[in-house]
Amino acid sequence: MKVVRSPLFYVGDKYKLMGQLVELFPKSINRFIEPFVGGGSVFLNTKANEYLVNDIDVNIINIHNTLRKFDINTLLDKLSQIIYNYGLSFSFKGITVPESFKKKYVKTYYAKYNKIAYEKLKNDYNNNQNNILYLYILLIYGFNRIIRFNASGLFNLPVGNVDFNTNVYNALKNYTEFMQINKISFKNKNYVDFLNEVEYREGDYIYLDPPYLISNSEYNKLWDIKKEYDLYDILDDLNDKGIKFGITNLVNHKGHVNEIIKTWGKKYKIFNINSNYISFNDNTIKTDSKEIFVTNYEECI
Ligand SMILES: C[S@@+](CC[C@H](N)C(=O)[O-])C[C@H]1O[C@@H](n2cnc3c(N)ncnc32)[C@H](O)[C@@H]1O
Repeated sequence: MKVVRSPLFYVGDKYKLMGQLVELFPKSINRFIEPFVGGGSVFLNTKANEYLVNDIDVNIINIHNTLRKFDINTLLDKLSQIIYNYGLSFSFKGITVPESFKKKYVKTYYAKYNKIAYEKLKNDYNNNQNNILYLYILLIYGFNRIIRFNASGLFNLPVGNVDFNTNVYNALKNYTEFMQINKISFKNKNYVDFLNEVEYREGDYIYLDPPYLISNSEYNKLWDIKKEYDLYDILDDLNDKGIKFGITNLVNHKGHVNEIIKTWGKKYKIFNINSNYISFNDNTIKTDSKEIFVTNYEECI
């Protein structure tokens, strides 16, 4: 299966797991419902007649809703204009870092070269946060490609050692093509309200990739034990209504164990997933991370 990556390059995305997950999804999906959509790598690789997706993070949803408006050529023109105006490197167009930088800063030359332009762009974006394409470029050139704001609401990621390259272009091309031919609705709500408002019907399938209780990342700060229990109660209710779901979660990570999903999952069907925490090429590399996929249905592709 050809797996495409979301142009948000989202931390913790399911891109590398899609080959395994799609095999475990129902054979035929009418409406694919994703309450924790993040960068969107899952719905982008799932066949359905319709998509209903959601995230609590307004910036994520703003980026999706902005990128989806354009075809690839228009989008590339608009993004190129910003990159040229600020004088950032642009390896996709062959505008790379001068040799002198490459020699002087062997491993960090993109970051060193783009730093001043990136700071200027960040400053301009923070003065007027309406331009979501500015935010997208900050993400693409930013450290680890994270979307991070401080308590005062200012974007505060430092420059990264990356730029707009062929991978970014390919991801945008796949994404914009998918958006033009599919029916997708984005919501920006707490997943509880989102799931409550859906009028469920035959052929609905809910895939959930909630923040992990036992690992660290920006969005996991929003999650706690109570939320974890509440989520499983909600899934039990959906199961009682006959709605199909599948949920991924980490059960073991760096000495921590998520006993809540381990116990709850026994009511359903549990699949082990080879996650990106485990080396596919060298299974002698020791890691205690284990990811599972829990479903309330039998039928898989
Ligand atoms: C593990 S990430 C999803 C990654 C996604 N599967 C991908 O491939 O990019 C979890 C997402 O849940 C969102 N989130 C956290 N708490 C939420 C809540 N209460 N309601 C809805 N979304 C929430 C976060 O903003 C984050 O984008």
